[in-house]
Amino acid sequence: MATLMFHVLIERMLKMGLVKMIQDSLGEDRYSNLRMLKENMARVFRDGHADMYYQAFDYIDEMKLEGDYLEFGCFSGKTMTCAYKYANKVGLDKTRFYAFDSFEGLPELGNTDLEIPEFQKGEFKSTEQQFFKDLKQNRVDTSKVTTIKGWFHETLSKETQDKLSIRNAAVVMVDCDIYESTVPILDFIVPYLVTGTVLLFDDWFCFCASDDHGERKAVKEWLQKNSQIKLVPYLPFEGYGQSFIVNILDSDGRTLPPAEYLRENLDRPR
Ligand SMILES: C[S@@+](CC[C@H](N)C(=O)[O-])C[C@H]1O[C@@H](n2cnc3c(N)ncnc32)[C@H](O)[C@@H]1O
Repeated sequence: MATLMFHVLIERMLKMGLVKMIQDSLGEDRYSNLRMLKENMARVFRDGHADMYYQAFDYIDEMKLEGDYLEFGCFSGKTMTCAYKYANKVGLDKTRFYAFDSFEGLPELGNTDLEIPEFQKGEFKSTEQQFFKDLKQNRVDTSKVTTIKGWFHETLSKETQDKLSIRNAAVVMVDCDIYESTVPILDFIVPYLVTGTVLLFDDWFCFCASDDHGERKAVKEWLQKNSQIKLVPYLPFEGYGQSFIVNILDSDGRTLPPAEYLRENLDRPR
């Protein structure tokens, strides 16, 4: 984050015309060294997830939206920690955090993703206890985090929806790598999406970015059967990830405004 701030500061200075002053006072050589230092720092200390989460929650805040954070595929708690940290950083302290995972690692791969051997059964195995331990070590207030342990095709049901009081989704992270795991997630999140929800796919560019594998195939099929949902590409992140802004369309294909979900109305039951 320090890198991001440094970057932003330099950009602002550039815009403000201070660069000429710095150039004159440092001399051409020192000035170009400073620029190089900035580029190298950005490369070395870059944390793509942290940058993405900062952008996502800042975007939600700027749009005057609010809602909950849903994560599918939690493993070590790295991305959950980012979500918690940056939701709070931008002042979205009413956000609740829902963590869905088997904690058994990846399931058996179906035929769809076997063709390109990127992932294996059992990869990313962890435990719920370890997940909470990691969150606590990172000073996450775990009373705001609810885990839903189990295989997605079993836990992502109407019963779970009725049991959890999830409001609309502000940010959703899909980080489960493979096609079969992504399908039930997408069906599950439909009622929580609003115009403005930020939807993150951590493995968008896996499988050589083929639309016939992994998360991309699941999304392609999901959009075909949910014509009211449009995904507007937002920012790529961390090498393999891609984020989208959700648009919910009316029957004429026009984007519905998110007014119903604005912050002041958030406490209304859905
Ligand atoms: C790449 S890891 C997630 C990494 C995590 N976001 C982090 O920051 O550490 C993928 C996770 O998805 C979970 N997973 C994949 N398919 C699943 C399924 N069908 N049901 C439940 N959990 C699943 C695995 O248990 C694993 O923890």
